[in-house]
Amino acid sequence: MINDFPSDLVVRRPAAGDHARVLAVLDRWWGGLGGEAGSTERALLLPRLFFQHFNTTSYLAERPDGSLGAFLIGFLSQSDPEVAYIHFVGVDPALHGQGIATALYQGFFDQVRSHGRRHVHCVTSPGNTASQAFHRRLGFDILSGEQGTGDTPFQPDYDGPGIGRVVFALDLARRPSRRSR
Ligand SMILES: CC(C)(COP(=O)(O)OP(=O)(O)OC[C@H]1O[C@@H](n2cnc3c(N)ncnc32)[C@H](O)[C@@H]1OP(=O)(O)O)[C@@H](O)C(=O)NCCC(=O)NCCS
Repeated sequence: MINDFPSDLVVRRPAAGDHARVLAVLDRWWGGLGGEAGSTERALLLPRLFFQHFNTTSYLAERPDGSLGAFLIGFLSQSDPEVAYIHFVGVDPALHGQGIATALYQGFFDQVRSHGRRHVHCVTSPGNTASQAFHRRLGFDILSGEQGTGDTPFQPDYDGPGIGRVVFALDLARRPSRRSR
């Protein structure tokens, strides 16, 4: 499914039966970011429907013992035939820095390219500096925004009152495909 995957994780499509076990790791994997409000927001951002209706463009990576190592939830835009969207990604902190998220993104890029998608969009919260660094490193551009307390511009109220987002976009035409690298 994804060639050259780092570590000994086995990658497959998620299913509805994976929903609860993914929810169960969110707080630990996100380091409790945002306290109780952050915890509630994360859980509500990942309802079961993603595991039912978006699984053919999503990935779940497990260790040989079956424990969860990483996941990516993404989909093809229904509205814009040039766009694909990455909604959520997480890697077990014990596995950070091994290129696992990069490999999941690359797998997604290759898949959506084959569906004619040129742009990949995603958002992250203004306080998630790790996610911001990761997306910048992969070559995502930040779509306009206001300067907050950090050094990354974000769009206030993007997802509702008081819910600002850093908005990212990547032009796949500027990124070599796996085959040509
Ligand atoms: C962000 C996250 C997905 C990165 O996963 P990962 O597998 O460790 O990332 P990779 O190993 O593929 O890193 C790719 C590049 O991003 C950089 N990067 C990743 N995390 C970083 C961090 N916390 N700070 C700075 N740079 C970082 C890496 O240094 C690497 O650059 P390199 O190629 O020069 O070494 C992971 O930290 C995570 O799961 N965080 C919690 C959940 C989250 O915030 N998800 C994103 C929002 S939905």
